[in-house]
Amino acid sequence: MAEFALPKNSKITKGKTWPKPEGASNVRAFKIYRWNEESGELPRIDTYFVDMDKCGPMVLDALIKIKNEIDPTLSFRRSCREGICGSCAMNIDGINTLACIYGLDEVKGDVKIYPLPHMEVVKDLIPDLTHFYAQHAAIMPWLETTTNRPQKEWRQSIEDRKKLDGLYECVMCASCSTSCPSYWWNGDRYLGPAALLHAYRWLIDSRDEATGERLDFLEDPFRLYRCHTIMNCTKTCPKNLNPAKAIAEIKKMMVERKM
Ligand code: SF4
Ligand code: FES
Repeated sequence: MAEFALPKNSKITKGKTWPKPEGASNVRAFKIYRWNEESGELPRIDTYFVDMDKCGPMVLDALIKIKNEIDPTLSFRRSCREGICGSCAMNIDGINTLACIYGLDEVKGDVKIYPLPHMEVVKDLIPDLTHFYAQHAAIMPWLETTTNRPQKEWRQSIEDRKKLDGLYECVMCASCSTSCPSYWWNGDRYLGPAALLHAYRWLIDSRDEATGERLDFLEDPFRLYRCHTIMNCTKTCPKNLNPAKAIAEIKKMMVERKM
C-alpha cells in the first residue's frame, strides 16, 4: 500500500467515535479526516460504523450514507458518481483515487479516508484546488491558431485524432499531482503531472499552431524539469492514464527542437 504525506494543516487529534448501527451484523469502521477552520479546533479522525448490508459497493456510497444518516456535517465533493467529473478525488487507504469508482472490497479492514495529500484543506475531505486550476489555465488548454477560422470546423484526420487518446480522458481530479513528491515540495513552480499531461495533449494536436510558444513556456527548470520520473502519477491515476509518459514526450520534443 502506498503511503502519502498528510494534508498540510494536519496536526491530527483523536476524534469522535460514533455509535454502531443497532441490530446490524455486518458492520465496517470508517476513519475519516475532519477539519473545520471555523471551529478553531485541530483536525481529528472521526470513526463511523456503517451497516454494509444496507450500503452500496463504492467508497462514495458509504460516504453519502454517513452524511445522510449519521453526520450531516461531513463534507466532501461529488457529482457524477461514475468517474467522469473528477470531483470526488481523495486519499483512500493510502491511495489517491476517485471515491465513486473505488470499491469497498478493494480495502482491507477499516476504511481510512483523507483529503488529497499536501494540499490546503477547505473543510474535511475538500482540498483547495485554486492553484491546481491556475496551473491548468497556464498551459493554455485550448486550440490556439493563427490561420483564419474555417467556416465550419477545424478538421483532423483519424490518425491525428487517435494521438489524443489516453490524454483527452483526463478528468482533472488531481490524484496524480498530489501523489508526486516533486509537486509536494515545489508545487508553487512545478506544474505537476496533470497540467503537463494537458500541455502535451495540446502540443500534439495537429490543429494547434502554437507549438513553439507552448514549448517556450515549459522550457523552465521548474515548470517541466522538476519531474524526476518517480511514476507515482501513473501508478495512482484512477482513469489509467499515463502522465509520466506524456511528460517524457514533452522532454523529447524539447530535445528534438534543438537538433
Ligand atoms: S491524469 Fe489521471 S490522476 Fe491525473 S488529473 Fe487526469 S485523471 Fe486525474
Ligand atoms: S463523483 Fe464524479 S468522478 Fe466521482
